[in-house]
Amino acid sequence: MGMDNLQSLLGIELPILQGAMGNLSSSRLAAAVCEAGGLGVIGVGTMPLEEIRRRIAQVRALTKHSNRLGLNLPIQVHPDPAGVLRLAQQEGIQTITLSAGNPQPYIAQLQAWGIKALVMVSTLAQAQKAEAAGANGLIVSGIEAAGMLSPQASPLLSILPLVTSQVSIPVIAAGGISDGRGLAAALILGASGVQLGTRLVATEEMEAHSNYKEALCKASDPEETLVVGIKWGSPRRLLKTVYAQRLLEQEQQQRDEQQQQGEQQLLHREKWLEWVSEEQHLRGALHGDLAEGMTLAGTSVGLIKEIQPVQVIFRNMLAGAQQVIPHLFQK
Ligand SMILES: Cc1cc2nc3c(=O)[nH]c(=O)nc-3n(C[C@H](O)[C@H](O)[C@H](O)COP(=O)(O)O)c2cc1C
Repeated sequence: MGMDNLQSLLGIELPILQGAMGNLSSSRLAAAVCEAGGLGVIGVGTMPLEEIRRRIAQVRALTKHSNRLGLNLPIQVHPDPAGVLRLAQQEGIQTITLSAGNPQPYIAQLQAWGIKALVMVSTLAQAQKAEAAGANGLIVSGIEAAGMLSPQASPLLSILPLVTSQVSIPVIAAGGISDGRGLAAALILGASGVQLGTRLVATEEMEAHSNYKEALCKASDPEETLVVGIKWGSPRRLLKTVYAQRLLEQEQQQRDEQQQQGEQQLLHREKWLEWVSEEQHLRGALHGDLAEGMTLAGTSVGLIKEIQPVQVIFRNMLAGAQQVIPHLFQK
């Protein structure tokens, strides 16, 4: 299943999808991605329906290519998943990415409306289930990715070729990809395209705080990210800030203490969910308070050196991939 199939499935010109970014999702970024030929995505996070409509309208005002705009529904995160899908249909959205929950109940409805359903998966079993349920494509997310990770996630190098050899729908690779060599590697492993998160935060168009973007450019090693929340069965990869380190310390402390049962344990989990809430995400990423708010980052931070326009990133990425695997780009 090649790049061309993915591009014609989604009506895009490049094999590149923008990753969803929860409540941080930026209309300017999504519009820039559509303009540059990729799939722009507004992640609905926990947004009220009116806010989602407002952001779709903003994207439409910024680009003629808003037919390349998709929505991401994080199923267990949004309070009204069915409402989001109805809104997508009313708004004429053509692609939905489904993550963070069981996609099965939603795929048939999307198919009936003619909306393409891309399902984010992290294991072979999830991939096969999503294909059997009628998904149009899969986004295989590796352990390298920023943000919420499946507790079962593996390195992309191991899971991607396995999935691409076992399914017959287009597969998009996500996690740790930031340059042309990353795109080339994903294509060689059988993917039809890539989804970028961290690389697209450090762009001119992204509406995030400069403290966050600059911290991504300054981080020089994958070691400058860390995974919190394993204890709670809800891992997330974050930039290694004071805030993230504090989260990890708290988690380790509780693991070291006698496992507390019942109510106490529930209280700890509730507190934890507050610390990684969308509110804390906006505090860190939008308002730039890196010490008291959360900032997400994938392991490719070491490859990201400067804040650039989306178009430049895409152009360099394509050129870089074509240089190492010219045969895959020959028509
Ligand atoms: C700021 C930020 C917020 C994210 N929020 C979401 C989200 O709401 N839903 C989702 O499916 N993925 C989310 N992700 C994951 C991305 O969509 C993408 O799959 C991931 O970042 C790819 O890995 P990379 O960051 O290494 O490129 C988020 C990523 C970032 C950087």
